Amino acid sequence: MRDLLGDEAARRRAFDTAFIEVVGAAGYEQIVPPILEDIGVFSRIGEATDVVSKEMYDFVDRGGRHVALRPEQTASVCRAFVEHRPALPYKAWYSGPNFRYEKPQRGRQRQFDQVGIEVLGPEDPHVDVEVIAIGWDFLASLGLTDVELVLNSLGDPEDRRRFTEAVGDHLRAHLAKLSEQSRETLERNPLRVLDSKRSEDAPIIAAAPRIEDFWSTEAAEHFSEVRSGLDRIGVPWRADGGLVRGLDYYRRTTFEFRSGALDSAQNALGGGGRYDGLVEDLGGPATPGIGFAIGVERTLIACDSESAFPGPAGGVEVFVVDTTGGSEALALSTELRRGGRTVDRGFGGRSMKAQMKAADRSGAQLALIIGDDELASGTVTARFLRGDRPQEQWARTEANRLVAEALADHRPPEMTES
Ligand code: HAM
Repeated sequence: MRDLLGDEAARRRAFDTAFIEVVGAAGYEQIVPPILEDIGVFSRIGEATDVVSKEMYDFVDRGGRHVALRPEQTASVCRAFVEHRPALPYKAWYSGPNFRYEKPQRGRQRQFDQVGIEVLGPEDPHVDVEVIAIGWDFLASLGLTDVELVLNSLGDPEDRRRFTEAVGDHLRAHLAKLSEQSRETLERNPLRVLDSKRSEDAPIIAAAPRIEDFWSTEAAEHFSEVRSGLDRIGVPWRADGGLVRGLDYYRRTTFEFRSGALDSAQNALGGGGRYDGLVEDLGGPATPGIGFAIGVERTLIACDSESAFPGPAGGVEVFVVDTTGGSEALALSTELRRGGRTVDRGFGGRSMKAQMKAADRSGAQLALIIGDDELASGTVTARFLRGDRPQEQWARTEANRLVAEALADHRPPEMTES
Protein backbone atom coordinates (compact mmCIF):
# COMPACT_ATOMS: atom_id res chain seq x y z
CA MET A 1 0.00 0.00 0.00
CA ARG A 2 1.46 3.29 -1.02
CA ASP A 3 1.08 7.00 -0.35
CA LEU A 4 0.60 9.35 -3.27
CA LEU A 5 1.93 12.88 -2.77
CA GLY A 6 2.38 15.94 -4.90
CA ASP A 7 2.89 15.21 -8.60
CA GLU A 8 1.91 11.55 -8.22
CA ALA A 9 -1.42 12.49 -6.65
CA ALA A 10 -2.00 15.13 -9.33
CA ARG A 11 -1.31 12.55 -12.02
CA ARG A 12 -3.71 10.12 -10.37
CA ARG A 13 -6.41 12.79 -10.44
CA ALA A 14 -5.68 13.62 -14.08
CA PHE A 15 -6.03 9.91 -14.87
CA ASP A 16 -9.61 10.03 -13.56
CA THR A 17 -10.31 13.18 -15.54
CA ALA A 18 -9.09 11.52 -18.74
CA PHE A 19 -11.25 8.47 -18.01
CA ILE A 20 -14.34 10.53 -17.22
CA GLU A 21 -13.97 12.34 -20.53
CA VAL A 22 -14.07 9.07 -22.49
CA VAL A 23 -16.89 7.36 -20.55
CA GLY A 24 -18.93 10.55 -20.15
CA ALA A 25 -18.91 10.92 -23.94
CA ALA A 26 -20.60 7.51 -24.18
CA GLY A 27 -23.38 8.18 -21.65
CA TYR A 28 -22.01 6.38 -18.58
CA GLU A 29 -22.96 7.68 -15.14
CA GLN A 30 -20.87 7.38 -12.01
CA ILE A 31 -21.42 4.86 -9.24
CA VAL A 32 -19.61 5.03 -5.90
CA PRO A 33 -20.14 1.74 -4.08
CA PRO A 34 -18.89 1.30 -0.50
CA ILE A 35 -15.41 -0.10 -0.02
CA LEU A 36 -16.68 -2.65 2.51
CA GLU A 37 -19.41 -5.17 1.68
CA ASP A 38 -20.99 -8.27 3.13
CA ILE A 39 -18.72 -11.21 2.37
CA GLY A 40 -21.56 -12.86 0.43
CA VAL A 41 -21.29 -10.23 -2.31
CA PHE A 42 -17.77 -11.37 -3.13
CA SER A 43 -18.18 -15.12 -2.72
CA ARG A 44 -20.14 -14.91 -6.00
CA ILE A 45 -16.90 -13.99 -7.78
CA GLY A 46 -15.98 -17.65 -7.30
CA GLU A 47 -14.89 -19.66 -4.26
CA ALA A 48 -12.35 -21.44 -6.47
CA THR A 49 -10.53 -18.22 -7.42
CA ASP A 50 -7.40 -16.94 -5.67
CA VAL A 51 -9.07 -13.55 -5.33
CA VAL A 52 -11.76 -14.99 -3.05
CA SER A 53 -10.06 -17.97 -1.42
CA LYS A 54 -6.60 -16.54 -0.70
CA GLU A 55 -6.50 -12.79 -1.13
CA MET A 56 -9.54 -11.28 0.52
CA TYR A 57 -9.24 -8.86 3.44
CA ASP A 58 -12.22 -10.19 5.39
CA PHE A 59 -13.10 -9.95 9.04
CA VAL A 60 -15.97 -10.03 11.50
CA ASP A 61 -17.03 -6.51 12.50
CA ARG A 62 -18.16 -5.38 15.96
CA GLY A 63 -21.73 -6.27 15.11
CA GLY A 64 -20.77 -9.84 14.27
CA ARG A 65 -21.15 -9.38 10.50
CA HIS A 66 -18.66 -11.09 8.22
CA VAL A 67 -17.48 -8.36 5.84
CA ALA A 68 -14.66 -7.79 3.36
CA LEU A 69 -12.78 -4.94 1.73
CA ARG A 70 -13.72 -5.15 -1.93
CA PRO A 71 -11.22 -6.99 -4.15
CA GLU A 72 -12.93 -5.54 -7.24
CA GLN A 73 -16.09 -3.57 -8.03
CA THR A 74 -18.13 -5.58 -10.53
CA ALA A 75 -19.85 -7.58 -7.79
CA SER A 76 -20.57 -4.36 -5.85
CA VAL A 77 -22.11 -2.72 -8.93
CA CYS A 78 -24.37 -5.75 -9.45
CA ARG A 79 -25.31 -5.78 -5.76
CA ALA A 80 -26.17 -2.07 -5.98
CA PHE A 81 -28.21 -2.72 -9.12
CA VAL A 82 -30.26 -5.40 -7.35
CA GLU A 83 -30.86 -2.99 -4.47
CA HIS A 84 -31.78 0.15 -6.44
CA ARG A 85 -32.96 -1.18 -9.80
CA PRO A 86 -31.94 1.76 -12.00
CA ALA A 87 -33.48 1.80 -15.51
CA LEU A 88 -31.97 -0.50 -18.11
CA PRO A 89 -29.62 -0.35 -19.82
CA TYR A 90 -27.67 0.68 -16.78
CA LYS A 91 -24.30 2.10 -17.87
CA ALA A 92 -22.01 2.98 -14.96
CA TRP A 93 -18.39 3.95 -14.42
CA TYR A 94 -16.33 3.87 -11.24
CA SER A 95 -12.91 4.71 -9.92
CA GLY A 96 -11.42 3.74 -6.61
CA PRO A 97 -9.36 1.45 -4.41
CA ASN A 98 -9.53 -2.35 -4.18
CA PHE A 99 -7.72 -4.72 -1.85
CA ARG A 100 -6.10 -8.09 -2.50
CA TYR A 101 -3.62 -9.84 -0.23
CA GLU A 102 -1.14 -10.57 -3.01
CA LYS A 103 2.65 -10.77 -2.98
CA PRO A 104 3.58 -7.14 -3.64
CA GLN A 105 5.85 -6.45 -6.59
CA ARG A 106 6.12 -3.88 -9.38
CA GLY A 107 2.59 -3.46 -10.74
CA ARG A 108 1.03 -5.56 -7.99
CA GLN A 109 0.01 -3.97 -4.70
CA ARG A 110 -2.31 -4.94 -1.89
CA GLN A 111 -4.25 -1.73 -2.33
CA PHE A 112 -4.66 -0.69 -5.96
CA ASP A 113 -6.93 1.61 -7.89
CA GLN A 114 -9.15 0.64 -10.78
CA VAL A 115 -11.23 2.65 -13.19
CA GLY A 116 -13.94 0.66 -14.89
CA ILE A 117 -17.33 0.49 -16.52
CA GLU A 118 -20.23 -1.96 -16.37
CA VAL A 119 -23.29 -2.24 -18.63
CA LEU A 120 -26.29 -4.15 -17.32
CA GLY A 121 -29.25 -5.09 -19.49
CA PRO A 122 -28.64 -5.72 -23.18
CA GLU A 123 -27.24 -9.00 -24.44
CA ASP A 124 -26.53 -7.26 -27.77
CA PRO A 125 -22.98 -7.99 -29.00
CA HIS A 126 -22.71 -4.29 -29.86
CA VAL A 127 -22.55 -3.64 -26.11
CA ASP A 128 -19.49 -5.88 -25.93
CA VAL A 129 -17.98 -3.91 -28.81
CA GLU A 130 -18.79 -0.56 -27.16
CA VAL A 131 -17.27 -1.61 -23.84
CA ILE A 132 -14.09 -2.98 -25.41
CA ALA A 133 -13.72 0.05 -27.68
CA ILE A 134 -14.04 2.43 -24.72
CA GLY A 135 -11.20 0.64 -22.93
CA TRP A 136 -9.11 0.68 -26.09
CA ASP A 137 -9.76 4.35 -26.85
CA PHE A 138 -9.11 5.37 -23.27
CA LEU A 139 -5.67 3.71 -23.26
CA ALA A 140 -4.95 5.34 -26.61
CA SER A 141 -6.04 8.72 -25.22
CA LEU A 142 -3.31 8.39 -22.57
CA GLY A 143 -0.80 8.15 -25.41
CA LEU A 144 -0.13 4.40 -25.03
CA THR A 145 0.66 2.63 -28.30
CA ASP A 146 2.23 -0.67 -27.21
CA VAL A 147 -1.09 -2.26 -26.22
CA GLU A 148 -2.60 -5.48 -27.48
CA LEU A 149 -6.25 -6.48 -27.18
CA VAL A 150 -6.62 -10.21 -26.52
CA LEU A 151 -10.09 -11.69 -26.99
CA ASN A 152 -11.80 -14.94 -26.14
CA SER A 153 -15.23 -16.40 -25.54
CA LEU A 154 -15.82 -18.84 -22.70
CA GLY A 155 -19.16 -19.87 -24.23
CA ASP A 156 -22.39 -20.33 -22.32
CA PRO A 157 -22.39 -21.89 -18.84
CA GLU A 158 -22.97 -25.39 -20.16
CA ASP A 159 -20.21 -24.93 -22.78
CA ARG A 160 -17.89 -23.69 -20.09
CA ARG A 161 -18.76 -26.61 -17.79
CA ARG A 162 -18.07 -29.23 -20.49
CA PHE A 163 -14.88 -27.43 -21.51
CA THR A 164 -13.66 -27.28 -17.89
CA GLU A 165 -14.31 -30.99 -17.53
CA ALA A 166 -12.46 -31.82 -20.76
CA VAL A 167 -9.49 -29.62 -19.76
CA GLY A 168 -9.43 -31.27 -16.31
CA ASP A 169 -9.38 -34.76 -17.89
CA HIS A 170 -6.61 -33.76 -20.30
CA LEU A 171 -4.46 -32.23 -17.57
CA ARG A 172 -4.93 -35.18 -15.22
CA ALA A 173 -3.79 -37.49 -18.04
CA HIS A 174 -0.48 -35.56 -18.07
CA LEU A 175 -0.25 -34.92 -14.37
CA ALA A 176 3.33 -36.12 -13.92
CA LYS A 177 4.66 -33.64 -16.47
CA LEU A 178 2.83 -30.59 -15.07
CA SER A 179 4.61 -28.06 -12.86
CA GLU A 180 3.95 -28.38 -9.14
CA GLN A 181 2.04 -25.06 -9.14
CA SER A 182 -0.21 -26.20 -11.98
CA ARG A 183 -0.92 -29.52 -10.25
CA GLU A 184 -2.10 -27.52 -7.28
CA THR A 185 -4.16 -25.12 -9.45
CA LEU A 186 -5.73 -28.11 -11.23
CA GLU A 187 -7.32 -29.27 -7.98
CA ARG A 188 -9.12 -25.96 -7.52
CA ASN A 189 -9.64 -24.54 -10.98
CA PRO A 190 -8.51 -26.51 -14.08
CA LEU A 191 -9.08 -23.57 -16.47
CA ARG A 192 -6.54 -21.42 -14.62
CA VAL A 193 -3.83 -23.90 -15.57
CA LEU A 194 -4.28 -22.65 -19.15
CA ASP A 195 -2.93 -19.30 -17.88
CA SER A 196 0.33 -20.86 -16.68
CA LYS A 197 3.46 -19.28 -18.14
CA ARG A 198 5.79 -22.09 -16.98
CA SER A 199 7.78 -23.77 -19.74
CA GLU A 200 7.12 -27.36 -18.52
CA ASP A 201 3.36 -26.71 -18.81
CA ALA A 202 3.51 -25.23 -22.31
CA PRO A 203 3.38 -28.44 -24.43
CA ILE A 204 0.53 -29.88 -22.31
CA ILE A 205 -1.43 -26.63 -22.59
CA ALA A 206 -0.81 -26.50 -26.36
CA ALA A 207 -2.38 -29.95 -26.71
CA ALA A 208 -5.36 -29.17 -24.42
CA PRO A 209 -8.96 -29.13 -25.72
CA ARG A 210 -9.88 -25.85 -27.42
CA ILE A 211 -12.77 -23.71 -26.23
CA GLU A 212 -14.10 -23.04 -29.74
CA ASP A 213 -14.98 -26.73 -30.05
CA PHE A 214 -17.35 -26.32 -27.11
CA TRP A 215 -19.20 -23.12 -28.08
CA SER A 216 -22.97 -23.37 -28.51
CA THR A 217 -24.29 -22.01 -31.82
CA GLU A 218 -25.58 -18.89 -30.03
CA ALA A 219 -22.28 -18.27 -28.21
CA ALA A 220 -20.29 -18.73 -31.44
CA GLU A 221 -22.61 -16.33 -33.29
CA HIS A 222 -22.37 -13.74 -30.49
CA PHE A 223 -18.57 -13.88 -30.53
CA SER A 224 -18.43 -13.59 -34.29
CA GLU A 225 -20.55 -10.41 -34.14
CA VAL A 226 -18.26 -8.97 -31.47
CA ARG A 227 -15.21 -9.54 -33.66
CA SER A 228 -16.80 -8.09 -36.79
CA GLY A 229 -18.01 -5.07 -34.78
CA LEU A 230 -14.45 -4.41 -33.60
CA ASP A 231 -13.21 -4.75 -37.18
CA ARG A 232 -15.85 -2.28 -38.34
CA ILE A 233 -14.54 0.44 -35.99
CA GLY A 234 -10.86 -0.36 -36.45
CA VAL A 235 -10.02 -1.86 -33.05
CA PRO A 236 -7.37 -4.52 -33.66
CA TRP A 237 -7.64 -7.77 -31.67
CA ARG A 238 -6.01 -11.16 -31.34
CA ALA A 239 -8.07 -14.22 -30.38
CA ASP A 240 -6.55 -16.45 -27.68
CA GLY A 241 -8.46 -19.51 -26.47
CA GLY A 242 -6.22 -19.59 -23.39
CA LEU A 243 -7.56 -16.30 -22.01
CA VAL A 244 -9.65 -17.56 -19.06
CA ARG A 245 -9.25 -14.64 -16.58
CA GLY A 246 -9.02 -14.92 -12.81
CA LEU A 247 -12.66 -14.54 -11.80
CA ASP A 248 -15.35 -17.19 -12.12
CA TYR A 249 -18.33 -15.12 -13.22
CA TYR A 250 -17.37 -14.78 -16.89
CA ARG A 251 -19.54 -16.10 -19.72
CA ARG A 252 -19.02 -15.62 -23.43
CA THR A 253 -16.80 -12.61 -24.26
CA THR A 254 -13.62 -12.10 -22.22
CA PHE A 255 -10.80 -9.71 -23.05
CA GLU A 256 -7.58 -8.19 -21.77
CA PHE A 257 -5.54 -5.14 -22.70
CA ARG A 258 -1.88 -6.14 -22.48
CA SER A 259 1.12 -3.87 -22.54
CA GLY A 260 4.33 -4.80 -24.32
CA ALA A 261 6.13 -2.43 -21.97
CA LEU A 262 5.53 -4.56 -18.83
CA ASP A 263 6.83 -7.92 -17.53
CA SER A 264 4.62 -10.75 -18.73
CA ALA A 265 3.44 -11.63 -15.20
CA GLN A 266 1.91 -8.14 -14.80
CA ASN A 267 1.25 -7.16 -18.39
CA ALA A 268 -2.54 -6.92 -18.17
CA LEU A 269 -3.40 -3.23 -17.92
CA GLY A 270 -7.02 -4.20 -17.61
CA GLY A 271 -9.55 -6.78 -18.53
CA GLY A 272 -13.15 -7.76 -18.41
CA GLY A 273 -15.92 -9.69 -20.00
CA ARG A 274 -19.55 -10.80 -19.81
CA TYR A 275 -21.01 -12.04 -16.55
CA ASP A 276 -24.57 -12.81 -17.53
CA GLY A 277 -25.36 -14.84 -14.39
CA LEU A 278 -23.98 -12.54 -11.70
CA VAL A 279 -26.98 -10.28 -11.06
CA GLU A 280 -29.16 -13.37 -10.68
CA ASP A 281 -26.63 -14.93 -8.29
CA LEU A 282 -26.91 -11.80 -6.16
CA GLY A 283 -30.68 -12.15 -5.90
CA GLY A 284 -31.79 -10.01 -8.88
CA PRO A 285 -33.68 -10.85 -12.06
CA ALA A 286 -31.73 -12.51 -14.87
CA THR A 287 -29.81 -9.53 -16.29
CA PRO A 288 -26.90 -9.77 -18.73
CA GLY A 289 -23.83 -7.69 -17.90
CA ILE A 290 -20.43 -6.82 -19.27
CA GLY A 291 -17.62 -4.49 -18.24
CA PHE A 292 -13.93 -4.01 -17.66
CA ALA A 293 -11.58 -2.62 -15.07
CA ILE A 294 -8.24 -1.01 -15.76
CA GLY A 295 -5.51 -1.04 -13.11
CA VAL A 296 -4.37 2.54 -12.54
CA GLU A 297 -0.89 1.90 -11.08
CA ARG A 298 -0.01 -0.65 -13.72
CA THR A 299 -1.22 1.58 -16.53
CA LEU A 300 0.85 4.47 -15.18
CA ILE A 301 3.93 2.22 -15.12
CA ALA A 302 3.26 1.43 -18.79
CA CYS A 303 2.86 5.17 -19.43
CA ASP A 304 6.27 5.77 -17.82
CA SER A 305 7.90 3.17 -20.09
CA GLU A 306 6.28 4.72 -23.15
CA SER A 307 6.93 8.32 -21.95
CA ALA A 308 3.18 8.90 -22.18
CA PHE A 309 0.77 10.81 -19.93
CA PRO A 310 3.28 12.76 -17.82
CA GLY A 311 0.48 14.27 -15.73
CA PRO A 312 -0.20 17.95 -15.20
CA ALA A 313 2.44 20.47 -14.20
CA GLY A 314 1.48 21.35 -10.64
CA GLY A 315 1.76 24.63 -8.82
CA VAL A 316 0.10 28.00 -8.73
CA GLU A 317 0.24 31.00 -11.06
CA VAL A 318 1.14 33.66 -8.55
CA PHE A 319 3.11 33.76 -5.28
CA VAL A 320 2.75 36.68 -2.93
CA VAL A 321 5.83 37.65 -0.91
CA ASP A 322 5.20 40.01 1.99
CA THR A 323 8.02 41.18 4.29
CA THR A 324 5.85 43.68 6.16
CA GLY A 325 4.19 41.19 8.49
CA GLY A 326 1.88 39.21 6.25
CA SER A 327 -1.42 41.02 6.35
CA GLU A 328 -0.83 42.51 2.87
CA ALA A 329 -0.22 38.99 1.55
CA LEU A 330 -3.45 37.89 3.23
CA ALA A 331 -5.44 40.63 1.50
CA LEU A 332 -3.77 40.42 -1.92
CA SER A 333 -3.79 36.62 -2.21
CA THR A 334 -7.47 36.51 -1.20
CA GLU A 335 -8.36 39.21 -3.71
CA LEU A 336 -6.52 37.44 -6.53
CA ARG A 337 -8.07 34.06 -5.65
CA ARG A 338 -11.53 35.62 -5.64
CA GLY A 339 -10.64 36.95 -9.09
CA GLY A 340 -10.05 33.39 -10.28
CA ARG A 341 -6.25 33.13 -10.03
CA THR A 342 -4.33 30.34 -8.33
CA VAL A 343 -2.21 31.90 -5.63
CA ASP A 344 0.07 30.84 -2.81
CA ARG A 345 1.92 33.02 -0.32
CA GLY A 346 4.64 33.02 2.31
CA PHE A 347 3.72 32.60 5.98
CA GLY A 348 5.31 33.28 9.33
CA GLY A 349 7.12 36.54 8.52
CA ARG A 350 10.06 34.77 6.89
CA SER A 351 12.92 36.62 5.19
CA MET A 352 12.69 37.89 1.61
CA LYS A 353 15.20 35.25 0.55
CA ALA A 354 13.25 32.38 2.14
CA GLN A 355 9.96 33.57 0.65
CA MET A 356 11.49 33.98 -2.83
CA LYS A 357 12.80 30.41 -2.57
CA ALA A 358 9.30 29.23 -1.74
CA ALA A 359 7.94 31.28 -4.66
CA ASP A 360 10.31 29.51 -7.00
CA ARG A 361 9.36 26.07 -5.65
CA SER A 362 5.66 26.87 -6.01
CA GLY A 363 5.90 26.76 -9.80
CA ALA A 364 4.45 30.31 -10.03
CA GLN A 365 5.03 32.44 -13.12
CA LEU A 366 4.89 35.58 -11.14
CA ALA A 367 5.96 36.76 -7.67
CA LEU A 368 4.22 39.83 -6.25
CA ILE A 369 6.46 41.39 -3.65
CA ILE A 370 5.35 43.75 -0.92
CA GLY A 371 8.07 45.28 1.24
CA ASP A 372 8.11 48.49 3.30
CA ASP A 373 8.61 50.69 0.20
CA GLU A 374 5.73 49.09 -1.69
CA LEU A 375 3.50 49.36 1.35
CA ALA A 376 4.31 53.06 1.71
CA SER A 377 3.72 53.83 -1.97
CA GLY A 378 0.65 51.61 -2.50
CA THR A 379 2.44 49.45 -5.07
CA VAL A 380 3.60 45.87 -5.58
CA THR A 381 6.76 44.70 -7.34
CA ALA A 382 5.97 42.14 -10.02
CA ARG A 383 8.88 39.78 -10.61
CA PHE A 384 8.57 37.35 -13.51
CA LEU A 385 10.00 33.99 -12.43
CA ARG A 386 10.08 32.33 -15.87
CA GLY A 387 11.45 34.03 -18.97
CA ASP A 388 13.37 37.31 -19.10
CA ARG A 389 10.75 40.05 -18.66
CA PRO A 390 12.25 42.66 -16.31
CA GLN A 391 10.46 43.35 -13.04
CA GLU A 392 7.81 46.07 -12.89
CA GLN A 393 6.22 48.30 -10.31
CA TRP A 394 2.43 48.10 -10.27
CA ALA A 395 -0.19 50.15 -8.49
CA ARG A 396 -1.67 47.91 -5.78
CA THR A 397 -5.19 48.72 -6.99
CA GLU A 398 -4.34 47.54 -10.52
CA ALA A 399 -2.82 44.23 -9.42
CA ASN A 400 -5.78 42.04 -10.37
CA ARG A 401 -5.97 43.34 -13.93
CA LEU A 402 -2.21 43.40 -14.51
CA VAL A 403 -1.80 39.84 -13.21
CA ALA A 404 -4.42 38.66 -15.70
CA GLU A 405 -2.61 40.45 -18.53
CA ALA A 406 0.81 39.15 -17.54
CA LEU A 407 -0.44 35.56 -17.26
CA ALA A 408 -2.18 35.74 -20.63
CA ASP A 409 1.26 36.54 -22.12
CA HIS A 410 3.02 33.85 -20.11
CA ARG A 411 0.75 30.85 -20.22
CA PRO A 412 2.39 27.61 -19.12
CA PRO A 413 2.46 25.07 -21.99
CA GLU A 414 -0.32 22.79 -20.64
CA MET A 415 -2.74 25.73 -20.60
CA THR A 416 -2.03 26.76 -24.18
CA GLU A 417 -4.93 26.01 -26.47
CA SER A 418 -3.97 23.69 -29.27
P1 HAM B 1 -9.06 -8.17 -12.83
O1 HAM B 1 -8.44 -8.75 -14.04
O2 HAM B 1 -9.00 -8.95 -11.59
O3 HAM B 1 -10.58 -7.89 -13.22
O4 HAM B 1 -8.45 -6.73 -12.54
C1 HAM B 1 -8.42 -5.74 -13.56
C2 HAM B 1 -7.10 -5.00 -13.53
O5 HAM B 1 -6.86 -4.50 -12.23
C3 HAM B 1 -5.89 -5.86 -13.83
O6 HAM B 1 -5.71 -6.01 -15.21
C4 HAM B 1 -4.77 -5.05 -13.21
O7 HAM B 1 -4.38 -3.99 -14.05
C5 HAM B 1 -5.46 -4.45 -12.00
N1 HAM B 1 -5.10 -5.24 -10.80
C6 HAM B 1 -5.66 -6.37 -10.34
N2 HAM B 1 -5.04 -6.77 -9.20
C7 HAM B 1 -4.06 -5.88 -8.96
C8 HAM B 1 -3.06 -5.73 -7.94
N3 HAM B 1 -2.96 -6.57 -6.91
N4 HAM B 1 -2.21 -4.68 -8.03
C9 HAM B 1 -2.29 -3.79 -9.06
N5 HAM B 1 -3.21 -3.88 -10.03
C10 HAM B 1 -4.08 -4.91 -9.99
C11 HAM B 1 -11.49 -7.34 -12.38
O8 HAM B 1 -11.23 -6.82 -11.33
C12 HAM B 1 -12.90 -7.35 -12.94
N6 HAM B 1 -13.80 -6.74 -11.93
C13 HAM B 1 -12.96 -6.63 -14.26
C14 HAM B 1 -14.34 -6.62 -14.83
C15 HAM B 1 -15.21 -5.58 -14.82
N7 HAM B 1 -14.94 -7.65 -15.40
C16 HAM B 1 -16.17 -7.28 -15.77
N8 HAM B 1 -16.34 -6.06 -15.41
